[in-house]
Amino acid sequence: EPQKSTVTITGAAGQIGYALLFRIASGAMLGPTTRVRLRLLEIPAAVHAAEGTALELDDCAFPLLDSIDVTDRAEEAFDGADVALLVGARPRAAGMERADLLAANGSIFGPQGRAINDHAADDIRVLVVGNPANTNALIAAAHAPDVPAERFTAMTRLDHNRGLAQLAAKLGCRTSEIDGLTIWGNHSATQYPDITHATAGGQPIASLVEQEWVEQEFIPRVARRGTEIIEARGASSAASAASAAIDQVHDWVLGGDASWTSAGVVSDGSYGVPKGLVSSFPVRSIEGGWEIVPGLEVPEFSKVRIEASVKELEQERESVRTLGLIG
Ligand code: NAI
Repeated sequence: EPQKSTVTITGAAGQIGYALLFRIASGAMLGPTTRVRLRLLEIPAAVHAAEGTALELDDCAFPLLDSIDVTDRAEEAFDGADVALLVGARPRAAGMERADLLAANGSIFGPQGRAINDHAADDIRVLVVGNPANTNALIAAAHAPDVPAERFTAMTRLDHNRGLAQLAAKLGCRTSEIDGLTIWGNHSATQYPDITHATAGGQPIASLVEQEWVEQEFIPRVARRGTEIIEARGASSAASAASAAIDQVHDWVLGGDASWTSAGVVSDGSYGVPKGLVSSFPVRSIEGGWEIVPGLEVPEFSKVRIEASVKELEQERESVRTLGLIG
């Protein structure tokens, strides 16, 4: 009997969804021996468009694709789900206050967390892509008390991959030769891409590049890459975001090649990050879940940057508490 996995994607009719579904169905996410049942969750107005994408998925004749269901009902979409990619979110509209944005997303991620709690497989793995990703993951996890919090993660793999690409370009090496990069904190402009422990072909990167380049170019370029893409493309990152989502789930389920990668996970208090916050850490996959890589030295230069991003996460948590979206 081949292995089968039920994968739920929210926001399936959106631009990330379109870049994501075909690669999942091809086996890029869960490997060449796992059959996939796709469940697409959309708002009623976009169900028809998602059904159109489902027709195209049929037409690819993917050998691993078992079935596709499209629905606007969360309890149906998450029924028996082994993996959930929460992509659909409420974007910030012109003139929208931050509190309004958090509230609008709370009304999406709260009920979806509840539906996951009540209907998903016991060992569900959830990746939140929709922004503000860290805090949306916090809200979803808070509404799923029966699901261990470490089953909820937020996507910072795109930031990690952006960092790998910038380093490889600077050093003239392949991204696969780079190890030990970390994204800390929030998936926002306050994030801290950290090369302290990074190596290229085994050599410490800090000894190969100027500190000025790290501070003036590398860190801001990675942290503001999303804006750079919007300015160039006229639309936000989609295929790169989908590719990062594939990478993150792939490494979570099947393990990766690097010593560690970066993901937003629920803090256990490691590295001074308050317990319960969903913050990006150096993580590696272990049996059934993630482990925050322990014992890394954190120099003062890193410490202040991690603290600044974590402070922003605490403010977001305070806002959603005030709004009554979490206890
Ligand atoms: P999009 O606007 O093209 O698609 C979003 C889709 O979600 C739409 O089809 C919409 O109908 C759907 N949706 C809205 N509310 C929903 C709900 N309650 N249930 C199910 N579906 C719902 O947006 P795009 O470009 O696909 O981006 C999706 C999200 O991913 C955005 O929040 C974006 O900011 C975020 N993002 C996160 C990144 C990360 O690194 N964490 C990187 C890039 C984007």
